[in-house]
Amino acid sequence: MNILAIESSCDETAAAIVRDGRDILSNVVSSQIDVHQATGGVVPEVAARLQLETIGPVITESLKQAKLDWEAINALAVTSGPGLVGSLLVGVETAKALAYSRNLPLIPVNHLAGHLYACLAQETSWQFPYLGLIVSGGHTELVLMESHRKFTLVGSTRDDAAGEAFDKVGKLLGLSYPAGPEISALAAKGNSQAIAFPRAMLDQANFDFSFSGLKTAVLREISSNSPSKKDVAASFQQAVADALAIKTVRAAGEYKPTAVLLGGGVAANTLLRRTLKNALANLAIPLLATPPVLATDNAAMIGLAAFWQKDRALQDKQVLDLTADPNAPLASPASANVS
Ligand code: KG4
Ligand code: ZN
Repeated sequence: MNILAIESSCDETAAAIVRDGRDILSNVVSSQIDVHQATGGVVPEVAARLQLETIGPVITESLKQAKLDWEAINALAVTSGPGLVGSLLVGVETAKALAYSRNLPLIPVNHLAGHLYACLAQETSWQFPYLGLIVSGGHTELVLMESHRKFTLVGSTRDDAAGEAFDKVGKLLGLSYPAGPEISALAAKGNSQAIAFPRAMLDQANFDFSFSGLKTAVLREISSNSPSKKDVAASFQQAVADALAIKTVRAAGEYKPTAVLLGGGVAANTLLRRTLKNALANLAIPLLATPPVLATDNAAMIGLAAFWQKDRALQDKQVLDLTADPNAPLASPASANVS
């Protein structure tokens, strides 16, 4: 089964073709980073307009790279939320038009589910439950995945997302947007023990995170002590990785998953991958981290998720009822949070 997937939830316009939930035949991503660097972040109206300009050529390119024509496509998939409404609408309306006119089923996919399935591309024998840590520019969530249908929210950030913290600290350090990769490169040359930044909420009996205090601590440190940028980057990155790893390991102890999944843009961070892997080793729980090429937003992850959720496919006129949902939740909250 060949699924052509479309992802346009934020500032990447992406299309991919995925066969049987495993083989990525093409994965085309057009990024708007250059444009948003000038404003130091994403301006939603600009993002939506650029999505509109690029989506057609990106879809055509995904077919070309996979060496397939439309006759070989069995279904369409699209990110229906969460994300920026204007950006999401471009992907959703394009997918609806294509599905209806070509008489193909359309599978709506939650963007965060995509980040989780990006970790599961190589999974052959499904061994539920998995515990997923999604760390991106907009989200920081711990999700228990008990089946392809059942996702339960176990913890989330109370304020900034982990990627947002990287981007805000990057701004304080005079780095360009998005700052994650640059902070990580600077940190490699710095001392992660140089500055004792806080690891928030560790004494609380829940699996939630908080990163806004860390950002304020970085601001205070920069304005009062003029430390080296390398040491700030290294100490900040270590504080984020520690906070994420400690809470994730606690949740893993509670929910006893067969593996922990690490997905989302921040999952490209080498220190985070290493810290989490080592911390889980004590519990003998393996880490399935997303391949770095599938960490930041792309459509292959939507095509992977769509195959396993194809029972949600909309057929015929049903496809016209699909709407973009900027706040689409992946999971309902767990009834009790215990540590
Ligand atoms: O998943 P993603 O592409 O978009 C959202 O759905 O938000 O994540 C983008 C985020 C940005 O905040 C970026 O700074 C961060 O991922 N990021 C990183 C790294 N690469 C990207 N953060 C830390 N280390 C990295 N190597
Ligand atoms: Zn994302």
